[in-house]
Amino acid sequence: MFDELDSTNTTAAQLASANADGLAIIADFQTAGRGQYGRTWQSRPASSLLLSVVLRPPAELCRPVILTAFAAVAVAEAVFALSGAQARMKWPNDLFVRGKKVCGLLIESHAANVILGLGLNLTQTADEFATVGLPDATSIRIVGGRVIEPREAAEAVLRRLDREYNRLLAGERVAVEAEWKWRVGLLGRQVVVELRDGSTVSGRLHEMGFDGLELEVADGFFRVIVPETVTHLRTA
Ligand code: BTN
Repeated sequence: MFDELDSTNTTAAQLASANADGLAIIADFQTAGRGQYGRTWQSRPASSLLLSVVLRPPAELCRPVILTAFAAVAVAEAVFALSGAQARMKWPNDLFVRGKKVCGLLIESHAANVILGLGLNLTQTADEFATVGLPDATSIRIVGGRVIEPREAAEAVLRRLDREYNRLLAGERVAVEAEWKWRVGLLGRQVVVELRDGSTVSGRLHEMGFDGLELEVADGFFRVIVPETVTHLRTA
């Protein structure tokens, strides 16, 4: 656990080696925290869990959708344990509680290693988020009414990351997939899928799994979309 780093993901990548599987890096503060799509990630010292874990998944698990899903499921379970609130997964990499973002995930590949980074908001108040221009963010304190220190949150999150990852390694992919589907929470709904090529597909989300999102695009006509081509998934 570090007081300050530029980015826990950067340090994790630097320290990653052939036998670093499971190495966890935590910092109270980051001077150059990063998010998806080149965005920055900023938080006041000790207000969030800033965590990166080095993974060396076997080839069949080396897919962004699977790695994001297992991490989202694990963090959502930790959020529930810490606050009593159920978190939804917002495609591709966010966890939301009551319509506001509580956690962001960032998965990066460095040679054979995957670095799973996450920022989980813990002690911020609504006023604080409003002051820094993040009215759509929330924290464990806001949703659960308790102030949780990063160390306690780290224990809760790491225990569940370990459990969900071991389920994947043990071939229990279906169990993780089912939990992920439930956390996305859009089955049966009219949705809009935004694709990497800039196009969109609308329809009813009939089924979803790591191998495809099945959309009923017209009465009785289905289209299967590869998850890795999806940039956003939202209700219509
Ligand atoms: C996002 O919402 O875009 C993802 C945010 C990920 C932030 C975490 S904080 C710990 C780790 N280190 C980083 O530099 N980023 C991730």
